Amino acid sequence: VTDLRLPPEALHPDEFNAPAIRMVPFEMGDLQANARVALESEGRHDMEWQRHFEREGVHTLTSSGREAIDLALDDIGLGPGDSVLIVTTTGGPYISACVTQTIERRGCRWSRTLGPDSRAILMIHEFGFPARLPEAERAAGLPVIEDCAYAFGTASVEGSIGRFGDYVVYSLPKAIPVSYGGVLLSPGPLRKTSRLSPEARAELPALATHHLAASSDDQARRRALFEVYRARFGAEGFQPLLEPEAGVVPHAFIVALADQPLAERMKPMLHKAGIISSVFYGGGGYFLPNHQRLSEAAVDYVVANFLAAHRQALSA
Ligand SMILES: Cc1ncc(COP(=O)(O)O)c(C=O)c1O
Repeated sequence: VTDLRLPPEALHPDEFNAPAIRMVPFEMGDLQANARVALESEGRHDMEWQRHFEREGVHTLTSSGREAIDLALDDIGLGPGDSVLIVTTTGGPYISACVTQTIERRGCRWSRTLGPDSRAILMIHEFGFPARLPEAERAAGLPVIEDCAYAFGTASVEGSIGRFGDYVVYSLPKAIPVSYGGVLLSPGPLRKTSRLSPEARAELPALATHHLAASSDDQARRRALFEVYRARFGAEGFQPLLEPEAGVVPHAFIVALADQPLAERMKPMLHKAGIISSVFYGGGGYFLPNHQRLSEAAVDYVVANFLAAHRQALSA
């Protein structure tokens, strides 16, 4: 039983009237608010945003997280025939196509195990939950790219997230209300420059500075919403698949759901209700939005729809 009492018409609106509950915080109104922030910054050359990535080295703004990965692969010198070892938090088969397609577009291959053609390691901190590099892979001495696309703000118990890799990648829309942008941290100046447009280059430092200044509140909000999800789901017998240890900023709530065909039947029902979410393929879960702009009512709506879809999928 959730706290929001909704008539079935409100819980299952016509798809043309459904809300948009997305994985990321950006809303249309931000375009105007962001334009104002950029204007008021008066084009000052602003390096302040770099402060939020506590680390030595070169900080580069990119058009996306994908471009940041591509620039890192380029800088390491990966080309056709080379392979990237991918290590994730859960070790499950799920890897965002954003990542694999970026690797494949360079003519490179990727693998989940170390091989003679492995030239780099890409570590993905899935939805903010820290991945760890096993000793055998670490001993290979390959350059490491940490993919923190969904992990802005997370620190591990060892405090190493975003500090450990030779390169670190972020995707800004997953952290703050902007609709494009990425960050690449590198040990030195990059061989190639970002294809970020001159207009974006002029505004993005101001937007990043402005929004990242609120990041500790945003992170507290994500942790609090995770607990709202936990309470609502717990009352119905569902548990989170991954537990946020100290320092973790969860960028999704993954519900443990072992029955994958069932989860696959639920996905279109949740999408029809305007809830962007997906099966955590091969990992025994279903991931749901958890960002700072969500209200508790949104979480109630998501949970109520999840439960309804679960019932319907079971009886289908
Ligand atoms: C793990 C991971 N890395 C990188 C990216 C790419 O980020 P962007 O959408 O900014 O290109 C994504 C996108 O979903 C992702 O999930």
